[in-house]
Amino acid sequence: MRKVELGVFMPVGSNGFLMSKRTPRYHPTFELHRDIAQVAEDIGLDYLFWMGKWMGFGGASGFWENTIEPISMASALAPLTTRLKLFATINPLLFHPAVAAKIISTVDNISGGRFGINVVTGNTLEELEQMGVVPDGYSDYRYEYADEWLSVAKMLWSEERSTFEGRFFTLDNCVSNPKPLSKPYPKIVSAGLSGDGMAFAAKHSDYQFVGLRAADVLRMREAAAAQGREVKVVTSMFLVHGETDAAADREFEAIRDDLDVEAVENLIRSFERDNRDSYKDRTSHLRQPNTVGFGSGTPVMGSPDTMAQKLCEMIVESGIDGIQFTFVDFVKDLKFFGTEVLPKLKSMLARHDIVVADAPAMAAAA
Ligand SMILES: Cc1cc2nc3c(=O)[nH]c(=O)nc-3n(C[C@H](O)[C@H](O)[C@H](O)COP(=O)(O)O)c2cc1C
Repeated sequence: MRKVELGVFMPVGSNGFLMSKRTPRYHPTFELHRDIAQVAEDIGLDYLFWMGKWMGFGGASGFWENTIEPISMASALAPLTTRLKLFATINPLLFHPAVAAKIISTVDNISGGRFGINVVTGNTLEELEQMGVVPDGYSDYRYEYADEWLSVAKMLWSEERSTFEGRFFTLDNCVSNPKPLSKPYPKIVSAGLSGDGMAFAAKHSDYQFVGLRAADVLRMREAAAAQGREVKVVTSMFLVHGETDAAADREFEAIRDDLDVEAVENLIRSFERDNRDSYKDRTSHLRQPNTVGFGSGTPVMGSPDTMAQKLCEMIVESGIDGIQFTFVDFVKDLKFFGTEVLPKLKSMLARHDIVVADAPAMAAAA
């Protein structure tokens, strides 16, 4: 039986992932995140995932004008949830690994061993440059830095005292207790698209984000296998529900037609400033006529029957191990997904020996 984990890509920034003047304007409050977590747990999903964003991109929609800090939010939700895994993003440049090791152990402890981290090296360097923390030449050694940072954290999580002299960090008989509850370490997630990013995932990660192409999924698994490791390959999708297919299509088209072009252009400018090879696809993707946002994931539109059918086909064909969802209205649409789509999807996937959302439901989603 193949298990596919389902999660929510939490809206850490204002307006979630959509850059449109049509969609609701809102901020990423604790109450919003608590309500999403409650529904996710009620309908039996597996995890919540928070990015770490440090600036917005303006425009008429005020895209990401507020962004919450993800570890604090995951920590606040840990005692309010019982089963969901909680993944929060951390950027090695912003925390000494001994400080990070202790923060992560603490949240892992609060959550009863349900906490994991997404290790990133800077989506756009502008976010970090505004703080004056980017060392000279950093873009050439981002993943070398992250590799050493994580190796140091792992030492501190597993040794009584650590002494280490590296290129970036020094430990002198350093102690870090308590250790995390998760053994050997809290789960590691990553999402690098470059060769160095994929190599980091092969060496360290339990989960790696890729697109939906079966070839990419396979390539990532093979890279991890070459290191004697297994990595679960995951992706993001944007679900647009409708009572009918036509209604869902109309909703998507309205969001797209009212695109906040200024916010999109601001984001493209920020990517082009870094001029990273791994971003060529990303900026051309943002310029495509069907763009509705950033990070929202592959759009899937339809009535509950169509949505379940499309998701089933994508899961079967891609070989993916997990999907995290984004929505227009996270609480309302996640409830709709739980009551109208998920039961159909479960029975379709069961015919392929695939199981999703199999945790005992806490209560029926209202
Ligand atoms: C689902 C997902 C979440 C991401 N979250 C963050 C994040 O929170 N912060 C960040 O700086 N980058 C984030 N990224 C960007 C990646 O970590 C990575 O930098 C990007 O895919 C470019 O690849 P590269 O770093 O190998 O050049 C995310 C990417 C994906 C697909």
